[in-house]
Amino acid sequence: MVADLREMQENQRVSEIRIGKLEFEEEKMKTMILNGSPRENWNTALMLREAQKGAESVGAETEYIDLYDLAYTGCRSCMACKRRGAVRCKCFWKDDLSPVIDRIFAADALIIGSPNYLGNITSQVYALMERLHFCALSYDDYSNYFQGRVNVGVILSMNAGKDIYEKWYKESMARQLEPLKGLKGAMEIYACCDTLQVNDYSRYNMAGFDEEHKKRMREEQFPHDLEEAFSMGARLSKI
Ligand SMILES: Cc1cc2nc3c(=O)[nH]c(=O)nc-3n(C[C@H](O)[C@H](O)[C@H](O)COP(=O)(O)O)c2cc1C
Repeated sequence: MVADLREMQENQRVSEIRIGKLEFEEEKMKTMILNGSPRENWNTALMLREAQKGAESVGAETEYIDLYDLAYTGCRSCMACKRRGAVRCKCFWKDDLSPVIDRIFAADALIIGSPNYLGNITSQVYALMERLHFCALSYDDYSNYFQGRVNVGVILSMNAGKDIYEKWYKESMARQLEPLKGLKGAMEIYACCDTLQVNDYSRYNMAGFDEEHKKRMREEQFPHDLEEAFSMGARLSKI
């Protein structure tokens, strides 16, 4: 009788483990991919599409959004997220960005891309960071309300060559991106440098650029950048 009971309990335990495992296997990693360039098929976007393929190669479910298609601003300082009893980590402003913020907090990984504009990330990416950061910030003790973990990959693209990036931009851009550390996951930044800005430089007043050099970089360097983007998407979507 006691032996039967033990066997029943053991069988139940095994089936619980099996059910648990099945449920776990069905739960896919979720990776959000956000394009912070106004151009939807250029350098930043191409890099992000590769990161998306990388994420999908390890079985993640992905969502790709062009931020410039959304209507939103930076934080309006409405203070709704600081009201007593308010749900934490929620931006209450009713526009296109608030549902995206909800999904970022619920994701496992976020890959965000931005061209370098005047040594900064684009205003669209900055506006998103203001909103994401402020609704997770406690004004009681400046702690972070966010209890989850979202890995973050940032893809920067720019005219500057790698040497100029290292010398002028690397440190300051990493500092600008620091609010994303509030997502508490692993964080990586990859810079895609010396990009091709237009297909035919002869049609523009762009004598400051060496078209041949730009085209060579596109043919020789850019494929490596795309491979790096793919690996980043895969790496951050499985840990
Ligand atoms: C408004 C504006 C400002 C820019 N400022 C810089 C800059 O300060 N440094 C730089 O290296 N490239 C700068 N660029 C070039 C872009 O960063 C570069 O062309 C980038 O690869 C564009 O990304 P996209 O092809 O995804 O649009 C600027 C471009 C624009 C349109």
